[in-house]
Amino acid sequence: MFPWSSSVPLYLVFLLVSIPLLAVLHGITRNTYVRRRLRLSVILVAIAALCEIGFLYFASPDLHYIALILGSLALLRAAVTLLLNPFRMDTVPDHFPSIVQDAVVVGAFVLVATYLAPDKLLATSAISGLVLGLALQDTLGNLFAGLAIQVEKPFRVGDWVKAANYEGRVAEVTWRATRIRTRSGNFVIIPNSLISKDTVVNFSRPSPVQRLEFTVGLDYDTPPNRVKRVMLQAAAEVPEILKEPPADVLLVSYEDSSILYKCRFWIADFAVTDPIIDKFATLLYYKLRREGLTIPFPIHEVRLQKEAVPEPESDAEVRLGFLEQVELFRGLTSSEKALISAGMEAQSFGSSEAIIRQGDPGDSMFFIREGSVRVLLRTGDQVHQVTTLGEGDYFGEMALLTGEPRTATIIADSDVDTYVLRKQAFRDVLVRAPGILEEISRTMAERKAQLEREATQAARKSSSSTKEEQENFLSRIHRFFKL
Ligand code: CMP
Repeated sequence: MFPWSSSVPLYLVFLLVSIPLLAVLHGITRNTYVRRRLRLSVILVAIAALCEIGFLYFASPDLHYIALILGSLALLRAAVTLLLNPFRMDTVPDHFPSIVQDAVVVGAFVLVATYLAPDKLLATSAISGLVLGLALQDTLGNLFAGLAIQVEKPFRVGDWVKAANYEGRVAEVTWRATRIRTRSGNFVIIPNSLISKDTVVNFSRPSPVQRLEFTVGLDYDTPPNRVKRVMLQAAAEVPEILKEPPADVLLVSYEDSSILYKCRFWIADFAVTDPIIDKFATLLYYKLRREGLTIPFPIHEVRLQKEAVPEPESDAEVRLGFLEQVELFRGLTSSEKALISAGMEAQSFGSSEAIIRQGDPGDSMFFIREGSVRVLLRTGDQVHQVTTLGEGDYFGEMALLTGEPRTATIIADSDVDTYVLRKQAFRDVLVRAPGILEEISRTMAERKAQLEREATQAARKSSSSTKEEQENFLSRIHRFFKL
C-alpha cells in the first residue's frame, strides 16, 4: 500500500491521464515541430509521474516537488505548443517562432512555480539567480539578443542576409543562434549576441530587387561608346537581368593598359547573382570577340603578340581541311576552296546564345566548325524545334541569298565555332563556282518545304485545340443550365 494522502493521487491521476492524451495528439498531428515538442513533453510527464509514485512510496517531499516542477513545465510546454502552432500544417507561425514560444513557456512556468512553491522559489531564487547569471553569461546574452531579433525583426526566415561576414539565407532563429545557409550549401551558426553587435545587411528587404556591377578593362583603341553599346546588348540578352530599371555602363577610369568600364544592372533574385554574372560575362566575351574587341593583357604582352605573330600558317590549312568536309563545296577545285577560305571569318558563340533570330534581316551564312545548333520555328505564340544542325552543316543561306528576313531562329546548343561568309565574299565565290547554286537552292527548297509543313501542323494543332476548348465550354454550359 502507498502511504498517500487523499489529495495527492489526484495529481498522479492527472499525470497518468495526460500521457496517453499527449501521445495520441503526437500521433495525429501533421506538424513535425509540434510532434517533436509533444514527444519531449510526454517523456517529461512520464518522469514526473515516476517521481510522484516515488514520493507516494518513500514519502520524500523533494520527489513531490520535482514531480510538480517537471509536470507543470511539460504540460505548459505542450499547451503552448498546441495553442500557438497549426495542428494540420507542417509550419511554424511567423509571429511565434520557437524562441518566442519558449519565452512564453518560461514566463508561464515562473508564474506557476511561484504559485505552487513560493517559499522554495524565494529561498533559492537569489542564490541561484547569481550562480546562473554568472554561469550563463554568454547564453543569456545570446538569449536576449535572440529575443531582440524577434521583436525588432531585422530579418525573417527565408531572407538573404550578410551578418558577421557570412552571407546566406536565414534558415532558423533559435534561443542561442541564427542559422544561415550559405551559397555553398553549408549551415553557418552565428551566435545571436554577435549578430546584435554587428552590422546586418538584409538583401531581401525592403525589396529583393538588387543592383549588380560587372567591371571589365578594354583596349585604349576602342571607342568608349562602342564598348558601352556591346555591354548594354549583352545585358539585354540575359533574361534574368531586369529591363526596368534599365542597365547602364560607366567609364570608370584610365588604367595602365586598359580603360575600365562598369556595367550596372538590376536583378530580381539575390540567390542567383553568381550564375547571372556568369551568364552576362560569358555572353560579353563572345560579343566582344565577334566585334573584334580584346580584353588586353598587360600592355607589353599585347604589343609583342600583335607585332611578332602574324596569321599562323596552319590556320589556312585548318580552314581548307574544314572546307573538305562541307558537302556543298565537294566538287570545287583547290583554288576555288582557297578563295572561299580567304573570305571566311571565324566567329564563336556561347551555349544558348541566339545566333540568328527569326524575322531579323541578314546578309551572312554560317558554317558550323564545331558544336551544334537548334533550328526553332515560331508560329503565333508557339515555338518549336524543327531540327538540329552539326559540324559541317550550314545555315543562314536563305536570307543571304533571297534578301528576305530570317525564316527561323538558330540557337547554339553547345559552344559553337563557325565560319561566316558575308554577301560580298559569297558573291565572289558564286562568280568562280556558279555550280554550287544548284546544290544550295535544292537544300533551300527542302528546308522551306519542311518549315511550311511544320507551320501547317502547328496551325492545325492550335485550331483543333480551339475546337476542343469550344466543346469543353459547350458541355459545361449544358451541365450548368441542366439543358
Ligand atoms: P535564314 O532564313 O537566313 O535564317 C534561318 C535559317 O534556318 C535559314 O536561313 C536556314 O539556314 C535554317 N533553316 C530553316 N529551315 C530549316 C530546316 N528545315 N532545316 C535546317 N535548317 C533550316
